[in-house]
Parts: sequence; structure tokens; C-alpha cells
Amino acid sequence: DTTRVGIVGAGPAGLMLSHLLAKAGIDNIVVEKRDRGTIANTHRAGILEHGSVRLLTDSGVDGRVLTEGHRHDGIDLRFAGESHRIDFADLIGESVWLYPQNEVFVDLADARERDGGDVRYSVTDTEVLDQTTDTPKIRFTDVDGTAVEIHCDILVGADGSQSVCRRSIPEQVRTDNFVEYPFAWFGILTEAPPSAPELIYANSEHGFALISQRSDTVQRMYFQCDPGTDASVWTEDQIWEELQKRVDGPDGFQLKRGRIFEQMVLPFRSYVCEPMRYGNLFLAGDAGHTVPPTGAKGLNLALADVRVLFEAIDSFYATKSPELLDGYSDTALARVWRAQNFSYWMTNMLHTRADANPFERKRALGELASVTSSRYGRQYLAEGYTGWPHS
Ligand code: DHB
Repeated sequence: DTTRVGIVGAGPAGLMLSHLLAKAGIDNIVVEKRDRGTIANTHRAGILEHGSVRLLTDSGVDGRVLTEGHRHDGIDLRFAGESHRIDFADLIGESVWLYPQNEVFVDLADARERDGGDVRYSVTDTEVLDQTTDTPKIRFTDVDGTAVEIHCDILVGADGSQSVCRRSIPEQVRTDNFVEYPFAWFGILTEAPPSAPELIYANSEHGFALISQRSDTVQRMYFQCDPGTDASVWTEDQIWEELQKRVDGPDGFQLKRGRIFEQMVLPFRSYVCEPMRYGNLFLAGDAGHTVPPTGAKGLNLALADVRVLFEAIDSFYATKSPELLDGYSDTALARVWRAQNFSYWMTNMLHTRADANPFERKRALGELASVTSSRYGRQYLAEGYTGWPHS
């Protein structure tokens, strides 16, 4: 098979790029090792920056984000048992949308199907070759066992944090930047009404907790745990007690409890591959970088990469000039490092190290108080959380 752009990975990054390219009349094929149902049921974060929402709606993916998602005009930072609202709408005139990543996938997958996109799920043995030539290739075995080779002009690695595409870049020509954290998140889905109208990011001496939502009847919550934690041995009562302990305060705030139907540990780290390009192979989303979950930047950053990469590819075919493609890595990385800093800052500000001494505890409370008591501090947080303007 021959196409212009070969995309590895049909997560939100790969499908969004495929959708934008197709709308611009640029042929592309997407290959994905998972089946559609598995991706649709993979629970990830649930917050979309306003720029991400605009990208979905302006490109005609679907209006479901607007009808089924919920606009949030702020969040609560809770520490020392008290909540402090960060009012995005008042501070910077922006909002975010609560709309889970797996729903973004469903909308994109439906849009590709509706528009006749060529997306091949459940492929195996994916390899990329000839990345530095004018005809890079993707080789794989398709779902019915046929060996396939796709020849293209441009290869895109949107194949997630375990990226085959990234690993195809020789180690001598890429730099792996990473940092590990002594934290992980214990995440649950519960059948319960919302405990609060907006998200609560809670710091406590017992560790961090995030009270998020999915719908009127299903809620998503997380609490900081040791990376070695085995989620399966925790009982519902133990989980609720642990969550409640982290939001307890003189205001008597109580979580609304319900049956827990999913519990899992999410390990985390920060990673950036530089450059995000090798010859005619371009990395987008988690294939190029991963962020810790605090602040929900992962999907938003992936969509920001895709917007820049789409414009570069579109300009390449329109003008035959590779100028924007040559600038892709630097342009994308400028936002990636800001998001890395935001995620790192939120993570370290809100989590509590198991070995924190009284100085460190009190310093952390000083930081939280200085951010929440200053309009400038709240504005800084609001800008990063809702998403800096797209360049
Ligand atoms: C969710 C996850 C996050 O990491 C975050 O910062 C906000 C919300 C979520 O899954 O709802």
C-alpha cells in the first residue's frame, strides 16, 4: 500500500492527526495494535483545555464534548483542611471541560469511520523502516494474518509511551530526559453522586488526593500511594477511609461514597525525547513525552503536538517547503517543557513525601498559601491549567 502519511497509533493523537489530514485532502493510513473496544475502555484523565475543545469542535469531530461534557470554571485547592477556589473564569476568562479521554477516542474513531478513514486496528509486529529516506515504511501483520508494508512520505509515531517508533530512533541521535517521582496514584471509579461541583486537589499530611468526576452517577477519585502498592488487596472501606482522611477539615467536608467498580495504581514519571524527529519520522503525544497526571496535561499536550504537526505537513504539501516540518520539534518542545514544568510543579506542590520533615511540610503549606492568597499566584496556576494559547 502507498499513502502520504503513515501514522502508528490510533489513540487521540493519531486519530486527530488523521482526521485533520483527511479534511485537508492528505491521504493517510493509521495502524494500531489494540482493538477499538480496548482503547474505548482505557480510562485516562478527564480534563480538556479550552484549546483542545476548540480543536475538536472546529474540525467537526463531534459536538458531544459540548453536550455531554461539563464546563468547569474553576478548581479547589484544599490544604490544611480548607478549600481555596481558583476561579478561572474570573482570573483569566477561560474554562476547561470535564470530558474523559476515552470519550474523545470514541468521538474520533466514529468520525474517522463516518468519513471513510483507513484505520487498521488489532495489527501485530509493527515496525518502521527507512525513516531517513524519502520513502519510509511501516511493516505489520494485519488482523487476518496478512503481512503488509505501507510506503509513505512522512511517518508519524503516535504510539504512546511504549512507542515502537521512538525506540527505532538510534540512541546516538536522541536524548532521553526523565525524572522519577517517589509517588503513584491509586485511582478508583465509583457509583456515587458528585461530592463537590468542581474538582478538588487536596494536599494533606497523609498525602495528596484528587476528587474528580465522570457524571451525575459515576465519580473518579485518586489518592497518592507508594509506587509498589497492590491495588487489588484494598477493600472499599480502606479506600474510602484513606480518601476521606486526606480531605478532612474543620468544615466537615464528607465524600459521598458508593460502590467502587474499578481500582488501579498509576505509576508516574516525566519524560521528554529530544528531538521529536528522526529524518521523516515525527513523534507526537506520549511517544515523545509523558507527564505525571497532576493537572491532566497528557492528552492536551498530545493534541497541541498534533495541531503543530498538521500545519507543518499541510504546508509541506501546499508549498513543497519543509520549513515548518523542520521547525516541528522545536515548536512542539517549547510547549512540552512548559507543560512538564506545570505538571512537575503541581505534583511537587500537592504531594507529600513519606519522609517529609516538619520543615518541608510547613514550607509546602507556605507555597500553597502564597499561590492561593495572591491574585497573581492564582492567575499563574489558572493559565497553566486551562492551557496557554496555541502558537
Ligand atoms: C482527572 C485526572 C487528572 O490527572 C487531573 O489532573 C484532573 C482530572 C480525571 O481523571 O478526572
